[in-house]
Amino acid sequence: MHLLSLKEWDGDLIKSVIDKAIYIKNHQDEFHDPLKFKSLAMLFQKTSTRTRVSFEVGMTQLGGHALYIDWKDSNFTLADIRDEVRYLSRNVDLIMARLLTYKDVLLLANHSKVPVINGCCETYHPCQILTDLMTIQEKTGRLEDVNVVYTGVHNNVCNSFILGADKVGLNLTLVTPDVHTPAVDEEVMEIVKESPRISKKDNLKEAVQEADFVYTDSWVDMEYFLDPAYEKEKQRRVDLMTPCQINKENMEGSHAFIMHDMPIHEGYEITREMIESDKSLIFEQSENRLHAQKAVMLKLLNYF
Ligand code: CP
Repeated sequence: MHLLSLKEWDGDLIKSVIDKAIYIKNHQDEFHDPLKFKSLAMLFQKTSTRTRVSFEVGMTQLGGHALYIDWKDSNFTLADIRDEVRYLSRNVDLIMARLLTYKDVLLLANHSKVPVINGCCETYHPCQILTDLMTIQEKTGRLEDVNVVYTGVHNNVCNSFILGADKVGLNLTLVTPDVHTPAVDEEVMEIVKESPRISKKDNLKEAVQEADFVYTDSWVDMEYFLDPAYEKEKQRRVDLMTPCQINKENMEGSHAFIMHDMPIHEGYEITREMIESDKSLIFEQSENRLHAQKAVMLKLLNYF
């Protein structure tokens, strides 16, 4: 079994991993060495803070070993990915990969002898959404019929949120005036059209009035944010997306908790005041990557 987009996981599996993640967080002493002598390869083609830290620390705390492989400093950069992973998966028990394209994530999974975890590609970010669902369940005690507003660009995080919400019975309202073209997935767009749990709204201020949680993400993917060649597109997005910013005015009258998967671009998708507000769960949410990643690794290695 792999974790690639969330399409391949059903609602019961998602819920069991979330329950386990919450249990692990509250009973860390019981989880010192279940993965003793196990190795996790972490392959990165893009930058990361949380994904790297949570998997590496998580594996260490579970008694195993995590191995960081930078794509450009390894022979993944010059050889056929299929051959490299056939070698790699004969030496490790689990692979987590943050690659530029889902096509390469699939190649990796299809030629690996061991489970592969998608650590975020251009189309999906399943590890993030499992963490976010965990954070929501921690706060509310449930997922069913919880109302979440996702405001921002329809991107990889949004795709995985739609897939997760539809499977666990959470109501998701999208305030997404723009779609990041590389993230377009027709199957996910069909879910948006057909699922009674997924809706779209134009006005953030209106949408947040009924929300239990409001969630945002960067308007520009990490690999483009500081790229001068992307400056014109970045400005177009800023102009279009500014009404979707989480700020005091848009949140007036709302009781919603505030979520952001990080890294944060202050003054773009969210203001400093909202990052620091009493309703912000952002740092609890980012801490939960650790607990959720532990549950994912234990599940994929058949420990529950
Ligand atoms: N949210 C997230 O995936 O963070 P990093 O990009 O820092 O790993």
